[in-house]
Amino acid sequence: MLKRFKVVLPFVLMVLCAMNSLNSCQPAEGHQKVSYLDAQAPVANRVEDLLSKMTLEEKVGQMSQYVGLFHLQKSADLNTPIDLMADDANAFYPGLSGKDLYDLIKTGRIGSFLHVLTAKEANELQKAAQQTRLKIPLLIGIDAIHGNALYEGATVYPTPLSLASTWDTLLVKTIAQQTAREMRATGSHWAFSPNVDVARDPRWGRVGETFGEDPFLVGEMGVAMVGGLQGDRFENPDNVLACIKHFVAGSEPVNGLNASPMDVSERTLREVYFPPYQKAIDAGAFTAMAAHNEINGDPCHGSKYLLTDILRNEMGFEGFVVSDWMDIERLKTVHRVVDSQKEACYLTVDAGMDMHMHGPDFLEPVMELVQEGRLSEERINQSVRKLLEAKFRLGLFENPFVQEDQIATSIRTEAHRSTALEAARKSIVLLKNDNLLPVKGDVKNILITGPNANNHTLMGDWSFEQPEENITTVVEGFEQVKPAKVKLNYHDMGMQVTEITSQHISEAVAKSKDNDLIVVVVGSNSLRYQSKFKTNGENIARDNLDLVGRQQELVEALHATGKPVVVVLINGRPLGVEWIAENIPAVVEAWEPGSEGGQAIAEVIFGKVNPSGKLPITIPRNVGQIPSYYNHKRAHYVKKYKWSKTGPLYAFGHGLSYSQFQYGEPVLSDSIIKSADTVQVTVEVTNSSKLAGEEVVQLYVRDLYSSVTRPMKELKGFARISLLPGETKNVTFRLDAEAFSFYNLNMEQTIESGEFWISTGSSSANEDLKTTKLTIQ
Ligand code: BGC
Repeated sequence: MLKRFKVVLPFVLMVLCAMNSLNSCQPAEGHQKVSYLDAQAPVANRVEDLLSKMTLEEKVGQMSQYVGLFHLQKSADLNTPIDLMADDANAFYPGLSGKDLYDLIKTGRIGSFLHVLTAKEANELQKAAQQTRLKIPLLIGIDAIHGNALYEGATVYPTPLSLASTWDTLLVKTIAQQTAREMRATGSHWAFSPNVDVARDPRWGRVGETFGEDPFLVGEMGVAMVGGLQGDRFENPDNVLACIKHFVAGSEPVNGLNASPMDVSERTLREVYFPPYQKAIDAGAFTAMAAHNEINGDPCHGSKYLLTDILRNEMGFEGFVVSDWMDIERLKTVHRVVDSQKEACYLTVDAGMDMHMHGPDFLEPVMELVQEGRLSEERINQSVRKLLEAKFRLGLFENPFVQEDQIATSIRTEAHRSTALEAARKSIVLLKNDNLLPVKGDVKNILITGPNANNHTLMGDWSFEQPEENITTVVEGFEQVKPAKVKLNYHDMGMQVTEITSQHISEAVAKSKDNDLIVVVVGSNSLRYQSKFKTNGENIARDNLDLVGRQQELVEALHATGKPVVVVLINGRPLGVEWIAENIPAVVEAWEPGSEGGQAIAEVIFGKVNPSGKLPITIPRNVGQIPSYYNHKRAHYVKKYKWSKTGPLYAFGHGLSYSQFQYGEPVLSDSIIKSADTVQVTVEVTNSSKLAGEEVVQLYVRDLYSSVTRPMKELKGFARISLLPGETKNVTFRLDAEAFSFYNLNMEQTIESGEFWISTGSSSANEDLKTTKLTIQ
């Protein structure tokens, strides 16, 4: 794949250059003199003109990013000064007042901000930037990973793990387009998204912000996000820059803790962690963020191997790299590969870093390094060219401001809410159903309870508080969706998964008496504005996968009443709910379905929506099974655990429907091909039930014998289809060389002749797949 990319890229760039005089590729012929303020001049010439006018300080200023003032204020409000100092994840600048920050902008020493939380603030900051000598606008970034959810009033879409459960790349692209529109309307130009980490350890708190465990699915979702955020090119005023992060492999930390080391072979890097980045780069991702962690002793932020040799030279990345929060500082404070901040700056810039996220400890050391001749000014120019290119192409020199009175027409519109609802509906995974769902006609009274029944945890991480009326909780969804004859009895036990008491449990049991059905909503809390109660999300790792607090007792007590129970999980990572899977007749994995999630959950439970989500990640039985992913090697499970079951609780790709789908055998266009050929695989799928439904058809490949060990199966294609009752559809996949290639012992990409299994079906579990054989000569 890497080799193919190298050939294709120059061609794509040539076409783009030819298409648009605003090209960013090369200064126009003869380097004719243009003014950077001339909007009609080619971008590359504008960049060169501006660069030639800038002082060293102004250049390094462009590489410096700070946190927005309102965010700083929020941090100060939520934390005591001692708490602020105790954790470098908090935003604060000791000794720097708001006025000092404005002075830094006006003297050209800040080029970018992150987390500017109001449009008014964005305009104020841009106004200050207009007072600089060269009037260079600010680039404003924000963690808009499932909608611009840090912004009050934005549409909060389902989190990435939910989006991956839809297996619907077009929908994800639409969400990214809408997110971009909401960002531009409110003053941001750069989404720190998509997170294309391949999540392989559910103890890690950030699983919910990934697209799951499979490199192919993560890559496809990443491409959809990049395409939606950036558009074909990001000159469009409704598009923003995308940022692929975190390069690389922080998603399988040795102990499950965020930012801890990653010890990983080159093979695993190339087979598992690099491919989604390659795909997103091929799709044009213009920015990348380095990862907190080290790889085999080499911290990513100081790694020339990763940031230059791999990212730029091998993968062909053409944009700019931003550091992650405090990670340049951590080269000294945590990794200790240098003994001063100045050396940290040297290491990272020399390795290929283009922008320092957040804070003052960069500009002066970097200037000194240039003045001393250790970093060349040309090295700084390389970074600044890319940063200016982004600002020109985004149109910020022409108009850095937003119209505050127009925001309401662009954010949380009817259309955006309806997309969020569609995504929530498609993302919900019905894990188990012993004929309890959808709710039957004879049910008259429903008890609904549990800590997540009536709160905002369904928004997930990277959301700030939203107006109450913008979020539909599960209880509110039930009220809207239930048939008139059903009486809903909500038992309130507070809103925190960690705070359940014996009294809550016994009261819920007592309340269950006159009800025909119990719905209990449990799970986790990823809300960053409720830091005291968070059980999930960034920096919230766990050493077990059980329900936190006394939620398990609550479920068991309700089950012991003898009434039928539905468990709804609202959570941001797989939970090892083995007892629930074995004892509770219906289990709904809702993940974190966003602001419209409560309605979607209710619709699934009452049968107004036929569930169609599929797991983008394996659910293990317990923490001891980690690592637990479907694309493992054969030797992984040749031996078994002695006293417990060896397989996962729910397989990757699993998800039930109220319809039944019958699969035919996969049929190949040719059963023998040459290694450079493509092959088509067709499978017939029939809805044999009386209910229309949607199904995600999955295709896996297995190389039967190879010179290095290969996974038991690998996802190489998927398609979401809808089928009316009794309807049959043929689904055709096209497999090219990439589906059969791997890295040999010399780490060269190769295809070996021999036999391959091609399997199609409804999940990665063997019992859900039908298989045929392909021979490659
Ligand atoms: C996270 C990044 C995020 C950045 C800015 C860091 O702590 O690792 O994913 O983009 O903060 O909020």
